Amino acid sequence: MQRIDELLVALDVNTGTQALELATALDGIAGGFKIGSRLFTLEGPQLVRTLSARGARVFLDLKFHDIPNTVAQAVESAVQTGAWMINVHASGGVPMMQAAAKAGRETAQRIGAPAPLLIGVTVLTSMDAVTLQQTGVERPLADHVVDLAILARTAGLDGVVASPQETAAIRKACGKDFLIVTPGIRGASAGADKNDQMRTMGPAEAVRAGASYIVVGRPIIAASDPRRAAEAIVKELSEGLLTT
Ligand code: C5P
Repeated sequence: MQRIDELLVALDVNTGTQALELATALDGIAGGFKIGSRLFTLEGPQLVRTLSARGARVFLDLKFHDIPNTVAQAVESAVQTGAWMINVHASGGVPMMQAAAKAGRETAQRIGAPAPLLIGVTVLTSMDAVTLQQTGVERPLADHVVDLAILARTAGLDGVVASPQETAAIRKACGKDFLIVTPGIRGASAGADKNDQMRTMGPAEAVRAGASYIVVGRPIIAASDPRRAAEAIVKELSEGLLTT
């Protein structure tokens, strides 16, 4: 079974040891691994360094959101861990995103590493029209998501994170080279249990809707045989991609 670049596995586990065991079990199958704030806060950058040194692509999902100078410094640190993909909140504004993109490029150049992929978070999928409105945004959520994606592209980011439902509209607005990273993958080879995900799509369906990468956690990491679960998704993706 061939590794498939589009599949990023969320290492949402309790310890660094468990994360490394999972990464080993999925070696040669997953296109990359996502490390979020929980595991990073517990284990620190060494886990990212270890995985990157093994040749794995690490999506460091820390969603930076601060003044431009601070975000630039955080991105500089993230690049030094070997992270392949880094994200920031698009709602931090254009100067913040520009500072992040510049820091990513310049740090990579300085240390002789490949430039990281800088990804914007648009609207958290846990938010709905009401919670968005409470933050002062009156317009429809979908319009806000697409406009933040356009803003991220304008600021020089490589792409955005988006739910499966938003992918097609962003793809249309931002063009074919803009990266879209899509969690909320369920159904078909990703299993029937939705857990807490509300707006879901199957793996191949999400890629057909325009996702560049899909992020899958529990359908793989909570399976009795994570490698087999990942292989089923890879098989579906390979077949799905052949037919597009
Ligand atoms: O287990 P599951 O497949 O739902 O995991 C999806 C991963 O993507 C989790 O790490 C979750 O925090 C993350 N994520 C998400 N929705 C977003 C952004 C990130 O589910 N909008």
